[in-house]
This record gives sequence, C-alpha cells and structure tokens, in this order.
Amino acid sequence: MKINSAKFISSYAKFSDCPKNKLPEFAFVGRSNVGKSSLINLLTNVKKLAKTSSSPGKTQLINLFLINKYWCLVDLPGLGYAKVSKEKRKEFSALINEYLLKRQNLCCVFMLIDSRLEIQKNDLNLINWMGTNEIPFVITFTKVDKLSKKKLEENIKKYKEDLHKHWEELPRFFITSSKKKLGNEEILDFIKSIID
Ligand code: GTP
Ligand code: MG
Repeated sequence: MKINSAKFISSYAKFSDCPKNKLPEFAFVGRSNVGKSSLINLLTNVKKLAKTSSSPGKTQLINLFLINKYWCLVDLPGLGYAKVSKEKRKEFSALINEYLLKRQNLCCVFMLIDSRLEIQKNDLNLINWMGTNEIPFVITFTKVDKLSKKKLEENIKKYKEDLHKHWEELPRFFITSSKKKLGNEEILDFIKSIID
C-alpha cells in the first residue's frame, strides 16, 4: 500500500475524550523506548509525524493519525518506564487496557518487542491478556539493525519457544528497523489486507 497522506488528528489523555469514528484503526503498544513512534514515522514516511525521543517516556497521550483519509494509526504511551511515577505507570497501563478493550473500530494491535531482549514478564502479561480477551494482535520485533542476522534468528526462535509455552497458536510476526527502513512494506500490506 502506498501512503498518500498522513495527518496528525490530535492527542487525548482519556479514552472517553477520543472521538468515535468508524475508520479501521491499528494501534501500537509496547515498552517505553521500544520504537513505537519511530515505526509510525517509518510506515507513513513522515519523519516527525509521531514525536520520538532517545529518552523513554516520550509519548504520554493517545495520539491519533489519519492515513490516506480512510484509516488510522494510534500511538500509545510506553509501558513500564521506571522513571515515570508508579501512579503514572498504572494510569498508562489502565488507559491502554481500556483502549484495547473498548475501541470499537480497532482492527489489530501491533505489540512491539525490542529484538535484543528475551521475553519480558510485563510484555508476556500483556500478550496473554490480549489473547484471553480475544484482541487481535501481531508481534513486531524492532531495532533489528542492532543485532547480527544470526543473533536475531536465535532471539526470534527463543521468543517463539517461550510463547509456545503459553499458546498453541502463535500470532503473526514482523521484523522491523526504523533506522534501516525494514519491514514497513510487509506491515502496510498486512494492514491493507485487513482493511480490504
Ligand atoms: P515512548 O514514547 O517513550 O513509549 O517510546 P517509543 O516506543 O515511542 O520509542 P521511540 O520511537 O521514541 O524511539 C526510542 C529511541 O529508539 C529513539 O532514540 C529512536 O531513534 C530509537 N529507535 C527506534 N527505532 C529504532 C530502530 O529500528 N533502530 C535503532 N537503531 N534505533 C531505533
Ligand atoms: Mg513514543
């Protein structure tokens, strides 16, 4: 799919503030600093559409973007950043859960995982929670430019094995690098297949 237009709609602090719409929507979740906002910029090919930062905790609101005038991307706050207060972390987590559970037009969640790390407890909790609640999601490995091909293959194999301990059927996986511009076409084709 070709992106002809990408426009920031607005930011919202609460689920109830988000405008209801019927456009197909795709949300990005994952730990703080995993590369959610960067991936949105890669997909849309607009460098500063979503604000990124080298320090975690950048995105603290729900950010909606209108793509090609007929579907939406959602940038969500990062999970689990230690320097954000405990209350704030709980608040973000509740906000994200509410969004994923209640958003009627949400078609699929992209769960981002730093390809350098082993499965993290909080990520696994969210994956299991989405699975239990039948929220459609895919797994997207980020920052693969930081690993050798061999190490990446090993990490992905291990990740899948760990997930298999909990789930018989695994979700779809994508491999991305916002730095090296990898994986964007596969993701856009996937999004298009769902919208169609
Ligand atoms: P929060 O908004 O805090 O939740 O973070 P985020 O998940 O939106 O991460 P963001 O996109 O802001 O990226 C965090 C840092 O990682 C930035 O310094 C990015 O430049 C860097 N980064 C993101 N994706 C990649 C990647 O594919 N490769 C490399 N090398 N760096 C990346
Ligand atoms: Mg962000």
